[in-house]
Amino acid sequence: MEKKLQTVRANNLKQKPEPDKLGFGKYFTDHMFVMDYEVDKGWYNPRITPYQPITLDPASMIFHYGQSVFEGLKAYRTEDDEILLFRPDKNMERMNRSNDRLSIPAIDEEQVLDYLIELIDLERDWVPNSEGTSLYIRPFIIATERNLRVAPAHSYKFLIILSPVGSYYPEGIHPVGIYVEDEFTRAVRGGTGTAKTGGNYSASYNAQEKASGNGQSQVLWLDALEKKYIEEVGSMNVFFKINGEVITPALSGSILEGITRMSIIEMLKDWGHTVVERKISIDEVFAAYDKGELEEVFGTGTAAVISPVGELQWKEKTIIINNRETGDLAKKLYNNITGIQTGKLADPYGWTIKV
Ligand code: COI
Repeated sequence: MEKKLQTVRANNLKQKPEPDKLGFGKYFTDHMFVMDYEVDKGWYNPRITPYQPITLDPASMIFHYGQSVFEGLKAYRTEDDEILLFRPDKNMERMNRSNDRLSIPAIDEEQVLDYLIELIDLERDWVPNSEGTSLYIRPFIIATERNLRVAPAHSYKFLIILSPVGSYYPEGIHPVGIYVEDEFTRAVRGGTGTAKTGGNYSASYNAQEKASGNGQSQVLWLDALEKKYIEEVGSMNVFFKINGEVITPALSGSILEGITRMSIIEMLKDWGHTVVERKISIDEVFAAYDKGELEEVFGTGTAAVISPVGELQWKEKTIIINNRETGDLAKKLYNNITGIQTGKLADPYGWTIKV
């Protein structure tokens, strides 16, 4: 099957938005990547086309049973006008793990990474350069077969769209308030929590509304079975600094395997910190607070990178963490990881690749 990338360039290029107006995921570049799948052809017809709507039959399986996966990664512009990607191979690996869970055919990770690099190269002028901005990359796969049977589709589309972004939360890297959710569940072991699939995210909206109704900006998810152990915060992994030790929930089969999470753990260990991946209960966190040992709490993810937690509300009790200020460790991690991502700091780990 044809694997060579065909490119059709857009006739009219869009005006680029002002860096301070970017927000998150509001603007899209001039081109996108598309590739199709049929059982007898495999993945075929990889192409870059002008960014445009796609037409799908109303009976396409994506609309009915949600068979889809996505990824999220970023391209950064360095001071020397080079474009860097951060650990894109890890996103490709994770996409195939998600594909496996959702019964979607695997992609050729190296080949898709090459296509992605060609797309970014074509759109390099879209990578913004102001502090805190980047080009967010959203690869995704949808089931396109026209059929209502409850079984894996026989045809799919893989697309990559690109969006110049600023900070994910309007608060930027300022501490957010968190509501500990004790009714709804994000995921359960054996479910789809480790896969990056849309339903995990849309199923969180009602809890998110509850958190907002309680005056908090994000949800902290507890485990589904005992409603006791901490899993994630918002759409991010979560870290606690208690009495000098950094603790993050161990990957339990229901927690997303964050690439920022993995990088933070590697970085902290490299700096000589003790990082423990284990079960951590909400009681333990509140008890640590009562003993004056809860030093910092922060979320990690591709979109927000590091998001400090300033307030934690669980049932009738609310605690204020680090005086609602960004902790030293969160600050240092943010500066170092974004420093590597944007080429301001040397990359001793070999995490970035040049486009
Ligand atoms: C991330 O930051 O990694 C996320 O998953 C958020 C994204 C879905 C916008």
